[in-house]
Amino acid sequence: MRTFLFLVCLCLAMSHSTQAQDMKSPNGKFSLRFSLQSDGTPVYNLQYKGKEVIKPSKLGFELKRLKKDAASGGDMNQKVANDESSLHDNFTLVDTKTSTFDETWTPVWGEVKTIRNHYNEMAVTLSQKGTNRQMLIRFRLFDEGLGFRYEFPHQKDLTYFVIKEEKTQFAMTGDHTAFWIPGDYDTQEYDFTTSRLSEIRGLMPKAITANVSQASFSPTGVQTSLMMKTDQGIYINLHEAALIDYACMHLNLDDKNMVFESWLTPDVKGDKGYIQAPFNTPWRTVIVSDDARDILASKMTYNLNEPSKIEDTSWIKPTKYVGVWWEMITGKSSWAYTDEYPSVQLGVTDYTKAKPNGKHGATTENVKKHIDFAAEHGFDAVLVEGWNQGWEDWFGNSKDYVFDFVTPYPDFNVAEIRDYAKSKNVKMMMHHETSSSVRNYERQMDKAYQFMKDNGYDAVKSGYVGNILPRGENHYSQWIVNHYQYALEKAAEYKIMINAHEAVRPTGIARTYPNLIGNESARGTEYQAFGGSKPNHVTLLPFTRQLGGPMDYTPGIFEMDVSKLNPDNNSHVNSTIANQLALYLTMYSPLQMAADLPENYMKFPDAFQFIKDVAVDWDDSKYLEAEPGAYITVARKAKKTGKWFVGSVGGNEPRTSKIGFGFLEPGKKYIATLYTDAKDAHYKTNPQAYTIRKVVVDSKSKLSQFVAAGGGYAISLEEANKAQLKGVAKL
Ligand code: NOJ
Ligand code: CA
Repeated sequence: MRTFLFLVCLCLAMSHSTQAQDMKSPNGKFSLRFSLQSDGTPVYNLQYKGKEVIKPSKLGFELKRLKKDAASGGDMNQKVANDESSLHDNFTLVDTKTSTFDETWTPVWGEVKTIRNHYNEMAVTLSQKGTNRQMLIRFRLFDEGLGFRYEFPHQKDLTYFVIKEEKTQFAMTGDHTAFWIPGDYDTQEYDFTTSRLSEIRGLMPKAITANVSQASFSPTGVQTSLMMKTDQGIYINLHEAALIDYACMHLNLDDKNMVFESWLTPDVKGDKGYIQAPFNTPWRTVIVSDDARDILASKMTYNLNEPSKIEDTSWIKPTKYVGVWWEMITGKSSWAYTDEYPSVQLGVTDYTKAKPNGKHGATTENVKKHIDFAAEHGFDAVLVEGWNQGWEDWFGNSKDYVFDFVTPYPDFNVAEIRDYAKSKNVKMMMHHETSSSVRNYERQMDKAYQFMKDNGYDAVKSGYVGNILPRGENHYSQWIVNHYQYALEKAAEYKIMINAHEAVRPTGIARTYPNLIGNESARGTEYQAFGGSKPNHVTLLPFTRQLGGPMDYTPGIFEMDVSKLNPDNNSHVNSTIANQLALYLTMYSPLQMAADLPENYMKFPDAFQFIKDVAVDWDDSKYLEAEPGAYITVARKAKKTGKWFVGSVGGNEPRTSKIGFGFLEPGKKYIATLYTDAKDAHYKTNPQAYTIRKVVVDSKSKLSQFVAAGGGYAISLEEANKAQLKGVAKL
């Protein structure tokens, strides 16, 4: 009897046992606890400086279909038995392995010269009672936060399976302030909404603004990267890293309990992932700090990606470019060659018979003008859109064969432009608008990339406007994520750099494939010509979208009244000129465009000088001020020249920025050229009012600088000798 009682007690004790496993970050600021609940559900929680930031949160999956072994005939359409659909409970702990990792690597391009990848790791191997299936969860705790992923080792009882839901939770400790955009399977081109978590549901209808391809899924569904701030001043960012062969993760909020759960993008059948073990999911990331500047400086997302798979990276070059682009976006000119054809069929439509519409942007003459402008002002490259046939009828009709990427319009002479650009030492940048016919693009890709190489193009801006073909697929589902990856890897074979617009937002993949020099994948400057963006938009992108990689934001607009370019377009660019200059620093990217028209730059040659001077690749970056939604100030040291530049952007309200120059070398004197908002500048009423002044600074100098609403300032610094300092005022 006593033995029996003892056994019962032991069993009860075991069934309630949490089997907690603890781990700390290298600096000790974070602690992670992993445990199994009494029903075998895996749970983790995270503390920062002794306070909980993620409450106990569940981990696991719900499976849809399962192919156990070859004997089942490979029938993935078979439903799984109820007890087999759960991959989120009934687990026992098989093994825990801990380790430490510390390396420093050198990115091909970036904000800093070297990146330290330092973390403590805990890998827990779980086995599911009854099914014998194994799942490993790997946690990495960095000084900036947590990354974890699921791994499915090669095993007999779990080989092929289909994910119905990933059930990763992030349980919040309160009703935090969030800076969010609506969850959507097809677009990220939204303005941010700032609200309490509890307000998301009510604000969602207003937050969903129109897009040519969009699919929201839940009144509390939001996208990652998601930035939050607690009432105690803790900044929390939720995102993912290394999104490879998997669906893009969104978050759905249980707004009664303030618990986020992962919500993967489904494919055309509603399935969320076709998996073959061995397989690792992307990393789920939680970056936390009580100083917002740390979130911007974090390199955790890159560190969770694999090292470069491209051995020779000498052909990957940071690029500052101009283009035949803004004139089309504003409607001043057109991508299309003619207005006569309501529809075109490649290879059938005869353009030589078409009457030109007189406003085609990509003419040989206009491109040559841009090449001259680039050469004169020191830009590396010229982008040209609307050069290839098919733009009369390019999206909205679910067309499969849209562009062939090799056939120019009659007024665009490929060879002449190639030779002219070469003679002026300017690179041409290719444009491949796929109009989301992914199938068509893959069909043409080798030919298209070879055509680029033959004609002197080393970089391509690709685009995915409109609904995806194959029909019914989403921009962010597993299959399409694989397409973006395929294009990237194939481009690397051809030594081509990629800047993909409307593609899935990046997740640090540029560490592995540094030829991904840019992405749009958010609301870019084009929206300033489509009705405008909120002035504080640019204070949020670096906290969210840019954690995963650089954005081709296309800054540098000097003419804010769009009707001056196109009388039929009343949009207004909600930004001052000084703000536009600052974006070259605050919106980090190795690919930067000077997006306005050459004639607009020539109206403000002294402000344009900053765009000509600013570097695009950096040895060091110091975030001096940061608050999501309000301001960002950063100082960066250029690669090769060692010159420092500073950029500061403000939000919706005017403010005073206060910075020190402690980043400069002590004992040395510098001449700082300050491009600032004039006292009466305002993004709406007086956006072109700026002042330029020169002052002497050293590492002890302090600056107190007015920033207008939607404004900013930019500084270029040059070391100076005594003779040069003569007559220049001290700060
Ligand atoms: C949307 C892109 O974001 C924009 O930059 C491009 O000009 C158009 N698509 C046309 O491809
Ligand atoms: Ca776009």
